[in-house]
Amino acid sequence: MSDSASGRVAILISGRGSNLQAFLDSRDAGELPGEIALVISNSAQAEGLARADAAGVAHRVIDHRDFDNREAFDQSVLDCLLEADIELVILAGFMRIITPVLTAPFEGRLLNIHPSLLPKYPGLNTHQRALDAGDAEAGATVHFVLPELDAGPPVIQVKVPILPGDDADSLASRVLAEEHVIYPIAARWYLQGRLRLHNTGALLDGQPLPAGGIPYIPA
Ligand code: GRF
Repeated sequence: MSDSASGRVAILISGRGSNLQAFLDSRDAGELPGEIALVISNSAQAEGLARADAAGVAHRVIDHRDFDNREAFDQSVLDCLLEADIELVILAGFMRIITPVLTAPFEGRLLNIHPSLLPKYPGLNTHQRALDAGDAEAGATVHFVLPELDAGPPVIQVKVPILPGDDADSLASRVLAEEHVIYPIAARWYLQGRLRLHNTGALLDGQPLPAGGIPYIPA
């Protein structure tokens, strides 16, 4: 498989696309040393498609319901990524479990953001679970994607306080604002050649990262 350094980035979405927007804003601010070349959604209803359109970014819908199984869907996505000479894939609210059909060829070139302080709360309903557990903090983690769900070496992690009176929605919006900050940072590190997946660990500037990734302190 090619380890092409084309600097071409694909962003995979399923819905709102606020993280996609953060990448587009980062690009517009001249802070992303690569090209957002392609947006793929598994749903034609994804609001993020309009964001891609408005930003002049090529976008495609590959509807998972048109395929018999996850592998066939992933193969179609993979074909599209290869055709577009994509170097780095950003999962941004992409609500599909992906298989080794996609993770293997893009190992070390596939990032995800998860709205929890991984390894806590992989999976869904992360904010409610943090509230139910009585946690003092919540947050988000950018990580390399390995075949396991919400697993893979963390790259950068941000913590936000859980405040009295928080519900899942208020907490989610506070975390989301920080997601928009840390995700483009991780992609920038990758595109600058500073961030790499080595065996199963993440390295930044050749140094192993802490267990939760680099701690990002919100402004
Ligand atoms: C974010 O909370 C992200 O952490 C999770 O899905 C949500 C996507 O939001 N993986 P958006 O579509 O980027 O607005």
